[in-house]
Amino acid sequence: MAAGDPSGWPALFSLVLAVAICFVSANIFVDEERNRLIVGEKYMRFGSLVVLTKQEKKANRNLMAIKKAEIKEAMETHQFPPSMHFFQAKRLIEDSEVFRILRKMPKGAALHIHEFSMASVEWLVKNVTYRPHCYFCITPKGLFQFKFADPAPQKLRSRECTEWVSLEDHRKKSNASVFDKRLLSMFSMVTKNPHSIYPNQDAVRTEFQNILFSMSGLVTHAPVFKDYIFQGLKEFHQDNVFFLEIRTRLSPVYELNGTVHNGLWVVKAYQEVVKNFQKTHRGFMGLRLIFSDSRSRSVAIVADSVRKAMGLQYHFPGIMAGFDLVGREDTGRSLYSYREALTIPVKHRIKLPYFFHAGETDWYGTSIDGNLVDAVILNATRIGHGFALTKHPLVRVYSQEKDIPVEVCPISNQVMKLVADLRNHPAASLMASGHPMVISSDHPALFGAKGLSYDFYEVFMGIAGNKADLRTLKLLVTNSIKYSSVVKSEKDFLMKVWWIKWNQFIEKLAQRRR
Ligand SMILES: *[C@@H]1O[C@H](CO)[C@@H](O)[C@H](O)[C@H]1NC(C)=O
Ligand SMILES: *[C@@H]1O[C@H](CO)[C@@H](O)[C@H](O)[C@H]1NC(C)=O
Ligand SMILES: *[C@@H]1O[C@H](CO)[C@@H](O)[C@H](O)[C@H]1NC(C)=O
Ligand SMILES: *[C@@H]1O[C@H](CO)[C@@H](O)[C@H](O)[C@H]1NC(C)=O
Ligand SMILES: [Zn+2]
Repeated sequence: MAAGDPSGWPALFSLVLAVAICFVSANIFVDEERNRLIVGEKYMRFGSLVVLTKQEKKANRNLMAIKKAEIKEAMETHQFPPSMHFFQAKRLIEDSEVFRILRKMPKGAALHIHEFSMASVEWLVKNVTYRPHCYFCITPKGLFQFKFADPAPQKLRSRECTEWVSLEDHRKKSNASVFDKRLLSMFSMVTKNPHSIYPNQDAVRTEFQNILFSMSGLVTHAPVFKDYIFQGLKEFHQDNVFFLEIRTRLSPVYELNGTVHNGLWVVKAYQEVVKNFQKTHRGFMGLRLIFSDSRSRSVAIVADSVRKAMGLQYHFPGIMAGFDLVGREDTGRSLYSYREALTIPVKHRIKLPYFFHAGETDWYGTSIDGNLVDAVILNATRIGHGFALTKHPLVRVYSQEKDIPVEVCPISNQVMKLVADLRNHPAASLMASGHPMVISSDHPALFGAKGLSYDFYEVFMGIAGNKADLRTLKLLVTNSIKYSSVVKSEKDFLMKVWWIKWNQFIEKLAQRRR
């Protein structure tokens, strides 16, 4: 693959630096020194070693002309979407020609996605809540809770919901379109005034948790569960993503008659859905699961989950990719505190790949900020977010040398209030030094996004800077296959399939008249 292999980086980096410093101290021509630095940095940049074909170069010229025009306009109007909150920028992004091109671009794999944030909330309201036997109630805290049941669910004790109401009856009695609008806004984090609605990280995290709580009774109903995954795959496939790695808790799933299925059933349900999906969506290459537990659990419970993950890995090697700990890092336990649990596989000489969320924090120097150290010590295959990585120079160099990529999810980081203006996202610095990375969307449905294209837009226009071109995009996309968890032969196959789609995309982009 033409996409650069970053393993040669550190050596090149020191060479460039040595040459540059040598010229600075020798004090020869200023212009020459200047050029050394500029050229040196140019070759360190993410994607700079990617070689483009003749046709790709042509496509690149068209793409860059459009990108430059959009940036020029943004500088004049002072409306630059990556510098704005995504909820306010979304319309502008959709008007962008660059965005339209990114939507058509074959983006390979989405490697950082959570299972109940894949399918749009419009679908959830318009399809799922219109199914028969659907009930809701409102908790004392004012949160919606849902349940499918036949016969109607029993009244519960006072602490939970007091009364279950049939959605069908309720829609008949009240104004259904008004009710649906209420549900829509309840299931989504999107708002016109994100800055006042979400004054701090706690506020935005609370809303996020509330949505997942309200959704749970809908999406863990067995038939809905399968349709939800199907719908999620559909939306990613429409966005030209053909492979996914999904973080899943493997939560229990229930039937109308009260039967509850365990995690094993869920794994098999995923397999079944993928098989069905592929019948009607030929180019779709499948998915793998990263079993995840919450980082608020005790060490003993996480130890159980690690053992469960080992068992699943053994019995379902095709679909299980490994293990992760999810949930808000700042209020959860540190990876270090779970070391007893997380070293169980290595003690048994069993390989359980880790895909830890780590460094999703603004707090520099806390025990949570130290998660990045432990993620690499525990041999993580990839790092989720790695937002704090630029504050850890040794972990940064170590992960670059060991070729451990970060999964950058810019819109998620912005919505969760880690960074406001995406030009200041730490991945900008990582890109400047060619750090291995992939782009993903974390919880696109809750943010009003779809697939990966919105995040690619933020990266291409905002984070990667004005000079980032088709080579940057090509490396990001090929990285998504290179750093996926599949075995080498499958990777080669994914690359082949992607390559065919990519060439069709390039052909059109190259022929395009502006
Ligand atoms: C919901 O979607 C499923 C699967 O696509 C479809 O079979 C069903 O008819 C839809 N139901 C409603 C109420 O829209
Ligand atoms: C429901 O409410 C909307 C908006 O307030 C209104 O336009 C519509 O006519 C109402 N529909 C019914 C059936 O009352
Ligand atoms: C409950 O419903 C499921 C799905 O329809 C069915 O497979 C199962 O046999 C039922 N169990 C009982 C106890 O009726
Ligand atoms: C990580 O890898 C190193 C080197 O292969 C090994 O010595 C160590 O035991 C591994 N640690 C874990 C937790 O897997
Ligand atoms: Zn995540």
